[in-house]
Amino acid sequence: MQTLTLPRPDDWHLHLRDGAMLTGIAAETARHFARAIIMPNLVPPVVTGAEAQAYRDRILAVTGSGFTPLMTLYLTEATDPADVVAAHRAGIITAVKLYPAGATTNSASGVRDFDRVRGVLEAMAQAGIPLLTHGEVTDPEIDIFDREAVFIDRVLDPIRRTTPGLRVVMEHITTSDAVAYVQSQPDDLGATITTHHLVINRNHILVGGIKPHYYCLPVAKRETHRQALLAAATSGDARFFLGTDSAPHADDAKESACGCAGCFTATNTMSILAQVFEAAGALDKLEGFSSRNGPAFYRLPVNDATLTLEKSDTPVSYPSKIDTGAGPVTVFDPGFPLYWRVL
Ligand code: NCD
Ligand code: ZN
Repeated sequence: MQTLTLPRPDDWHLHLRDGAMLTGIAAETARHFARAIIMPNLVPPVVTGAEAQAYRDRILAVTGSGFTPLMTLYLTEATDPADVVAAHRAGIITAVKLYPAGATTNSASGVRDFDRVRGVLEAMAQAGIPLLTHGEVTDPEIDIFDREAVFIDRVLDPIRRTTPGLRVVMEHITTSDAVAYVQSQPDDLGATITTHHLVINRNHILVGGIKPHYYCLPVAKRETHRQALLAAATSGDARFFLGTDSAPHADDAKESACGCAGCFTATNTMSILAQVFEAAGALDKLEGFSSRNGPAFYRLPVNDATLTLEKSDTPVSYPSKIDTGAGPVTVFDPGFPLYWRVL
């Protein structure tokens, strides 16, 4: 029997939601992960230090203290730089999230005019607070499959040039353009990669009938891009680390004429990753990707606790849905059998 023991992994991009959904799905992450960067796109969004503190308390009330939520603020054009710096100094927040207005689920309060957040970004650069970007432009003229690459040129690179010292994480990258941009830059730039973008390309969403549970944002691109992501994740380059972007929506909101974006991967992420890294001949790189590179970027210690995976001869089964008080949530189906089980 083959086993693999890692320092306990962290999830550097996670949606835990609130209320009955939070209660229903938090254990799916807390069972395997020590810490997670918690996305602030609630309705209404988490915009102040006080709101982040209250949200953290609601999460801890569900997970207990064995799991550490690392909180983020949702950047708006009205964000007060002093509040951001004070919340960081007080240990309430770890980072700030930039959503271009309208880019994704619950992003209506995001940024339209990037000049209006310059003061906040400068204060963050000074205080060493990372900016996490949802890297897609929202210009209706730009094709949805090109929105990440255009964001790099039009928004991200200018922000980084005008705000020296700002540490940035490109969240959930989906293109070879994003991989190449990270590789071309100094190590104040990192990137998270999701589990599902290592598994699916756009055919999975569209061939043989539309598959709403594979629809997420940024939308999966063509196969060459998936291969570039896989190469980056398994390369050992410390600037790439795991952020699952596990994003639960109840099935009725996904299986709809206007279905929500988001793949829910918390339950089987570590099994899928072990399988994917092994198939790429890079099982030895999983530890860096899921347990070491993220803490290094965030200047946090690697977890002392461990997680052990065991490979069996017969496939491991996971529930196809998690029942929550907010409705059933479908667990991401990688489309191939999983042999690695978390002990
Ligand atoms: C996320 C969500 O549902 O909140 N959806 C998604 O497809 N990833 C938002 C996001 O991270 O873009
Ligand atoms: Zn997300």
